[in-house]
Amino acid sequence: MKLFHKPEPVVCGDCLSHIAFIMDGNGRWAQKRGLPREAGHSAGAKNLRKIVTACRDRGIRTVTVYAFSTENWNRPKKEVDGIMSLLADYLDEAMRDKDKNKMRVRVLGDLKPLSEDLIWKICDLEEATAGFTDYTLNIALNYGGRQEITHAVNELIAKGVTEVTPEDISAALYTGGMPDPDLVVRTGGETRVSNFLLWQSAYAEYAFTKTPWPSFGERELDAILKDYCGRQRRYGGL
Ligand code: IPE
Ligand code: IPE
Ligand code: MG
Repeated sequence: MKLFHKPEPVVCGDCLSHIAFIMDGNGRWAQKRGLPREAGHSAGAKNLRKIVTACRDRGIRTVTVYAFSTENWNRPKKEVDGIMSLLADYLDEAMRDKDKNKMRVRVLGDLKPLSEDLIWKICDLEEATAGFTDYTLNIALNYGGRQEITHAVNELIAKGVTEVTPEDISAALYTGGMPDPDLVVRTGGETRVSNFLLWQSAYAEYAFTKTPWPSFGERELDAILKDYCGRQRRYGGL
Protein backbone atom coordinates (compact mmCIF):
# COMPACT_ATOMS: atom_id res chain seq x y z
CA MET A 1 0.00 0.00 0.00
CA LYS A 2 1.30 3.41 -0.95
CA LEU A 3 1.20 6.02 1.78
CA PHE A 4 0.84 9.68 0.97
CA HIS A 5 2.43 12.06 3.41
CA LYS A 6 1.39 15.64 3.90
CA PRO A 7 4.42 17.68 2.80
CA GLU A 8 6.34 19.48 5.56
CA PRO A 9 5.36 23.15 5.80
CA VAL A 10 7.83 25.68 4.43
CA VAL A 11 9.46 27.30 7.46
CA CYS A 12 10.14 30.97 6.91
CA GLY A 13 11.16 32.51 10.22
CA ASP A 14 14.48 33.80 8.87
CA CYS A 15 13.56 35.35 5.53
CA LEU A 16 10.03 36.54 6.26
CA SER A 17 8.96 38.22 9.46
CA HIS A 18 5.76 39.95 8.31
CA ILE A 19 3.15 38.65 5.87
CA ALA A 20 0.01 40.55 4.93
CA PHE A 21 -3.15 39.26 3.28
CA ILE A 22 -5.76 41.07 1.22
CA MET A 23 -8.50 38.56 1.94
CA ASP A 24 -10.54 39.06 -1.21
CA GLY A 25 -13.05 36.91 -3.08
CA ASN A 26 -15.51 36.02 -0.29
CA GLY A 27 -18.54 37.37 -2.13
CA ARG A 28 -17.78 35.64 -5.43
CA TRP A 29 -16.99 32.40 -3.58
CA ALA A 30 -20.52 32.50 -2.13
CA GLN A 31 -22.27 33.64 -5.30
CA LYS A 32 -20.69 30.79 -7.26
CA ARG A 33 -22.30 28.40 -4.79
CA GLY A 34 -25.70 30.11 -4.92
CA LEU A 35 -25.20 31.44 -1.39
CA PRO A 36 -25.63 34.98 -0.05
CA ARG A 37 -22.44 37.06 0.14
CA GLU A 38 -22.62 36.90 3.95
CA ALA A 39 -21.99 33.14 3.73
CA GLY A 40 -18.76 33.95 1.90
CA HIS A 41 -17.67 36.27 4.70
CA SER A 42 -18.48 33.59 7.24
CA ALA A 43 -16.38 31.04 5.34
CA GLY A 44 -13.68 33.71 5.04
CA ALA A 45 -13.63 34.26 8.81
CA LYS A 46 -13.26 30.52 9.33
CA ASN A 47 -10.33 30.46 6.94
CA LEU A 48 -8.72 33.40 8.71
CA ARG A 49 -8.39 31.25 11.84
CA LYS A 50 -6.75 28.49 9.82
CA ILE A 51 -4.29 30.70 7.96
CA VAL A 52 -3.23 32.66 11.06
CA THR A 53 -2.35 29.36 12.74
CA ALA A 54 -0.59 28.13 9.60
CA CYS A 55 1.58 31.27 9.48
CA ARG A 56 2.50 30.85 13.09
CA ASP A 57 3.42 27.19 12.51
CA ARG A 58 5.78 28.43 9.82
CA GLY A 59 7.55 30.81 12.20
CA ILE A 60 6.12 34.05 10.75
CA ARG A 61 5.97 36.51 13.61
CA THR A 62 3.63 39.17 12.25
CA VAL A 63 0.48 38.64 10.19
CA THR A 64 -1.65 41.55 8.97
CA VAL A 65 -5.05 40.94 7.41
CA TYR A 66 -7.25 43.38 5.53
CA ALA A 67 -10.69 42.79 7.01
CA PHE A 68 -12.62 45.96 6.10
CA SER A 69 -11.54 48.99 4.11
CA THR A 70 -12.57 52.63 4.48
CA GLU A 71 -14.36 52.13 1.14
CA ASN A 72 -16.25 48.98 2.22
CA TRP A 73 -18.91 51.18 3.90
CA ASN A 74 -20.23 51.64 0.36
CA ARG A 75 -21.73 48.14 0.51
CA PRO A 76 -25.33 47.35 1.52
CA LYS A 77 -25.96 47.74 5.25
CA LYS A 78 -26.90 44.08 5.62
CA GLU A 79 -23.50 43.00 4.31
CA VAL A 80 -21.61 45.55 6.44
CA ASP A 81 -23.54 44.47 9.56
CA GLY A 82 -22.76 40.83 8.77
CA ILE A 83 -19.02 41.53 8.49
CA MET A 84 -19.02 43.54 11.75
CA SER A 85 -20.82 40.74 13.52
CA LEU A 86 -18.27 38.18 12.29
CA LEU A 87 -15.48 40.46 13.49
CA ALA A 88 -17.11 40.73 16.91
CA ASP A 89 -17.25 36.91 17.10
CA TYR A 90 -13.61 36.70 16.06
CA LEU A 91 -12.57 39.14 18.80
CA ASP A 92 -14.62 37.23 21.41
CA GLU A 93 -12.94 33.99 20.42
CA ALA A 94 -9.48 35.57 20.44
CA MET A 95 -10.18 36.86 23.96
CA ARG A 96 -11.36 33.46 25.13
CA ASP A 97 -8.32 31.67 23.64
CA LYS A 98 -5.69 34.30 24.37
CA ASP A 99 -3.68 32.21 26.84
CA LYS A 100 -3.62 29.28 24.44
CA ASN A 101 -2.74 31.37 21.37
CA LYS A 102 -0.28 33.69 23.12
CA MET A 103 -0.68 36.12 20.26
CA ARG A 104 -0.86 39.88 20.41
CA VAL A 105 -3.86 41.23 18.53
CA ARG A 106 -3.95 44.79 17.27
CA VAL A 107 -6.49 46.60 15.16
CA LEU A 108 -5.27 49.06 12.53
CA GLY A 109 -7.70 51.70 11.35
CA ASP A 110 -10.00 54.49 12.40
CA LEU A 111 -12.10 53.01 15.18
CA LYS A 112 -14.40 56.01 15.67
CA PRO A 113 -17.19 55.00 13.25
CA LEU A 114 -17.41 51.46 14.72
CA SER A 115 -20.08 50.47 17.22
CA GLU A 116 -19.32 51.13 20.88
CA ASP A 117 -19.52 47.41 21.58
CA LEU A 118 -16.91 46.61 18.94
CA ILE A 119 -14.63 49.40 20.16
CA TRP A 120 -14.75 47.97 23.68
CA LYS A 121 -13.96 44.47 22.44
CA ILE A 122 -10.99 45.81 20.47
CA CYS A 123 -9.60 47.84 23.39
CA ASP A 124 -10.03 44.95 25.83
CA LEU A 125 -8.37 42.44 23.53
CA GLU A 126 -5.48 44.74 22.64
CA GLU A 127 -4.85 45.33 26.32
CA ALA A 128 -5.22 41.67 27.31
CA THR A 129 -2.80 40.44 24.63
CA ALA A 130 -0.25 43.29 24.77
CA GLY A 131 2.26 41.10 26.62
CA PHE A 132 2.41 38.37 23.96
CA THR A 133 5.21 39.82 21.89
CA ASP A 134 6.41 36.72 20.00
CA TYR A 135 3.53 36.69 17.53
CA THR A 136 1.28 39.53 16.41
CA LEU A 137 -1.93 39.57 14.41
CA ASN A 138 -2.93 42.97 13.00
CA ILE A 139 -6.50 43.28 11.82
CA ALA A 140 -6.95 46.17 9.39
CA LEU A 141 -10.48 47.36 10.09
CA ASN A 142 -11.96 50.54 8.69
CA TYR A 143 -8.49 50.84 7.29
CA GLY A 144 -7.32 52.84 4.29
CA GLY A 145 -3.73 53.60 3.42
CA ARG A 146 -4.44 57.19 2.41
CA GLN A 147 -6.51 57.80 5.53
CA GLU A 148 -3.70 56.31 7.65
CA ILE A 149 -1.01 58.54 6.14
CA THR A 150 -3.24 61.63 6.43
CA HIS A 151 -4.00 60.76 10.05
CA ALA A 152 -0.27 60.31 10.79
CA VAL A 153 0.61 63.69 9.27
CA ASN A 154 -2.18 65.41 11.20
CA GLU A 155 -0.94 63.82 14.43
CA LEU A 156 2.51 65.22 13.73
CA ILE A 157 1.08 68.68 12.96
CA ALA A 158 -0.88 68.56 16.22
CA LYS A 159 2.40 67.93 18.04
CA GLY A 160 3.79 71.10 16.51
CA VAL A 161 6.11 69.43 13.99
CA THR A 162 6.72 71.73 11.01
CA GLU A 163 8.94 69.47 8.91
CA VAL A 164 8.59 65.70 8.76
CA THR A 165 10.98 62.90 7.86
CA PRO A 166 9.97 59.51 6.43
CA GLU A 167 10.87 58.04 9.83
CA ASP A 168 8.46 60.44 11.57
CA ILE A 169 5.64 59.31 9.27
CA SER A 170 6.47 55.60 9.68
CA ALA A 171 6.39 55.99 13.46
CA ALA A 172 3.05 57.85 13.41
CA LEU A 173 1.24 55.22 11.30
CA TYR A 174 -1.03 52.63 12.95
CA THR A 175 1.86 50.19 12.37
CA GLY A 176 4.41 52.41 14.14
CA GLY A 177 7.23 50.30 15.56
CA MET A 178 6.40 47.21 13.52
CA PRO A 179 8.48 45.85 10.68
CA ASP A 180 7.22 46.61 7.17
CA PRO A 181 5.49 43.71 5.40
CA ASP A 182 7.89 41.45 3.49
CA LEU A 183 5.15 39.84 1.43
CA VAL A 184 1.59 40.92 0.58
CA VAL A 185 -0.68 38.16 -0.71
CA ARG A 186 -3.96 39.01 -2.46
CA THR A 187 -6.49 36.28 -3.06
CA GLY A 188 -9.57 36.52 -5.28
CA GLY A 189 -8.00 37.28 -8.65
CA GLU A 190 -7.71 41.07 -8.63
CA THR A 191 -4.22 42.48 -9.14
CA ARG A 192 -4.56 45.75 -7.28
CA VAL A 193 -3.65 47.10 -3.86
CA SER A 194 -7.03 48.65 -2.93
CA ASN A 195 -5.58 51.20 -0.47
CA PHE A 196 -3.77 48.62 1.69
CA LEU A 197 -0.49 49.42 3.51
CA LEU A 198 0.48 52.00 0.89
CA TRP A 199 3.41 53.43 2.83
CA GLN A 200 4.62 50.22 4.44
CA SER A 201 4.68 48.19 1.21
CA ALA A 202 7.26 50.39 -0.53
CA TYR A 203 9.57 47.38 -0.90
CA ALA A 204 7.19 44.51 -0.18
CA GLU A 205 7.00 41.54 -2.49
CA TYR A 206 3.55 40.72 -3.89
CA ALA A 207 1.79 37.46 -4.68
CA PHE A 208 -1.58 37.35 -6.43
CA THR A 209 -3.74 34.26 -6.69
CA LYS A 210 -7.10 33.67 -8.32
CA THR A 211 -8.16 31.44 -5.42
CA PRO A 212 -10.92 33.14 -3.40
CA TRP A 213 -10.02 33.69 0.24
CA PRO A 214 -12.35 31.00 1.69
CA SER A 215 -10.60 28.36 -0.47
CA PHE A 216 -7.04 29.56 0.15
CA GLY A 217 -5.26 26.78 2.00
CA GLU A 218 -1.93 25.73 3.43
CA ARG A 219 -0.70 24.05 0.28
CA GLU A 220 -1.05 27.24 -1.71
CA LEU A 221 0.44 29.26 1.14
CA ASP A 222 3.49 26.99 1.04
CA ALA A 223 3.83 27.38 -2.73
CA ILE A 224 3.74 31.19 -2.33
CA LEU A 225 6.25 31.10 0.54
CA LYS A 226 8.59 28.86 -1.43
CA ASP A 227 8.43 31.24 -4.38
CA TYR A 228 9.00 34.22 -2.08
CA CYS A 229 12.06 32.60 -0.47
CA GLY A 230 13.62 32.23 -3.93
CA ARG A 231 13.24 35.91 -4.82
CA GLN A 232 16.08 38.39 -4.63
CA ARG A 233 15.08 41.63 -2.93
CA ARG A 234 17.37 44.39 -4.13
CA TYR A 235 15.88 47.55 -2.61
CA GLY A 236 17.16 49.54 -5.54
CA GLY A 237 20.73 48.26 -5.18
CA LEU A 238 22.51 45.54 -7.14
C1 IPE B 1 -13.34 40.51 0.70
O1 IPE B 1 -14.23 39.81 -0.09
C2 IPE B 1 -13.93 40.86 2.05
C3 IPE B 1 -14.22 42.29 2.20
C4 IPE B 1 -13.97 43.23 1.34
C5 IPE B 1 -14.85 42.69 3.44
P1 IPE B 1 -15.28 40.57 -1.03
O2 IPE B 1 -16.54 40.75 -0.26
O3 IPE B 1 -14.70 41.78 -1.61
O4 IPE B 1 -15.50 39.47 -2.14
P2 IPE B 1 -15.63 39.73 -3.68
O5 IPE B 1 -14.38 40.44 -4.11
O6 IPE B 1 -16.86 40.56 -3.89
O7 IPE B 1 -15.74 38.36 -4.27
C1 IPE C 1 -10.17 44.94 -0.50
O1 IPE C 1 -11.13 44.24 -1.20
C2 IPE C 1 -10.60 45.11 0.93
C3 IPE C 1 -10.57 43.90 1.75
C4 IPE C 1 -10.16 42.73 1.37
C5 IPE C 1 -11.03 44.07 3.10
P1 IPE C 1 -12.27 44.98 -2.03
O2 IPE C 1 -13.10 43.92 -2.63
O3 IPE C 1 -12.94 45.98 -1.18
O4 IPE C 1 -11.41 45.75 -3.13
P2 IPE C 1 -11.83 46.22 -4.59
O5 IPE C 1 -13.14 46.94 -4.48
O6 IPE C 1 -11.91 45.00 -5.45
O7 IPE C 1 -10.70 47.11 -5.03
MG1 MG D 1 -13.63 42.17 -3.29
